[in-house]
Amino acid sequence: MTASSAELPPEPQAVVGPLTRAAVFLVVRVNPGGESVARDLLADLPGLQRSVGFRSLDGGLTCVAGLSSSAWDRLYGSPRPAELHDLPVFAGDKHTSVTTKADLLFHLRAERMDLCFELESLIMARLEGVVTVVDEVQGFRYFDARDVLGFVDGTENPTGRGAVDAVLVDDDGAFNGGSYVIVQKYLHDMAAWNKLTTEQQELVIGRRKLSDVELSDDEKPGDSHIALNVIEDEDGNELEIVRDNMPFGRPAYGEFGTYFIGYAKTPSIIEKMLENMFVGSPPGNTDRILDFSTPLTGALFYVPTAEFLEDPVVASDEPAEPTPEPPAPAPGTSLGIGSLRRSPR
Ligand code: HEM
Repeated sequence: MTASSAELPPEPQAVVGPLTRAAVFLVVRVNPGGESVARDLLADLPGLQRSVGFRSLDGGLTCVAGLSSSAWDRLYGSPRPAELHDLPVFAGDKHTSVTTKADLLFHLRAERMDLCFELESLIMARLEGVVTVVDEVQGFRYFDARDVLGFVDGTENPTGRGAVDAVLVDDDGAFNGGSYVIVQKYLHDMAAWNKLTTEQQELVIGRRKLSDVELSDDEKPGDSHIALNVIEDEDGNELEIVRDNMPFGRPAYGEFGTYFIGYAKTPSIIEKMLENMFVGSPPGNTDRILDFSTPLTGALFYVPTAEFLEDPVVASDEPAEPTPEPPAPAPGTSLGIGSLRRSPR
């Protein structure tokens, strides 16, 4: 470990940031043999982001990359983040979640879609031929940060220090400063939803539609979205996640969706919420939002620190392999300095 990395915690990726107006959610599988190309792209991601983002200083462009459990094994091997695993299916009598075979998630955010589009184009140019696209969704911020169901979405997100505490891993050695992220793409049955009165919709969500004020404990049904997603540990502390859901859709095709994305320091918090929603708490008391929302995808990823992506050997804290003595340069030749970045394992 270098002196500077001993003093400073590893730099996280831009997991916690202000909500933006535009986002792209790109999920791909790495084809067999494509591992080193994918790893090199991940190492160069901050540079690509600067190439696009620096040209629009108020554009707020960021890109977070995550790896699934199997992708981690293929790209970086051992050691691995303690809680990285495949997202389980949550199945109750009425609702069942979906899981998707996926390797890499790219979560691009900016104030303008053109910046996301440009960076995504550069990413895909580098990955051409070595990945299979699983899903690509362009999300937009809707009126008053509402979802397409018409409710303000994101209000109770922790902010500032609380957000950092909620999302960054702090008890896993070399993996501290990373995060876990779960994504799910939902489509809504707008015809059924619009048959409800506003008051009935408010009982589904657990908040007022116009004012975004939370219903009182007396008013809020136990199967409302809010009631099932406010969870606590055994000491009564609320367990929080950071969400940056985005609406998406194609009204001409009847497509109205919410792309759910939740970051947390441990995936177990988001998984508990999913269990509450799909299996029910108690079992059978499922989230009313699922009567109008169908998941099409689902996957879990670990988000390494920016430092790890750029230099996996250093960040992994693995004992360095003994380096053979370099051959002495022939008289009159250069010092033989090639790539300044160490090649990944
Ligand atoms: C809160 C919408 C899926 C976790 C909310 C709120 C809305 C909403 C409107 C209230 C405002 C706010 O605090 O943000 C949706 C929609 C979804 C969806 C449209 C997709 C169909 C999920 C999923 C999870 C989740 C899959 C977790 C696995 C939460 C949490 C809160 C919340 C933790 C805040 C609860 C609180 O502290 O009051 N959601 N959500 N949501 N949602 Fe969702």
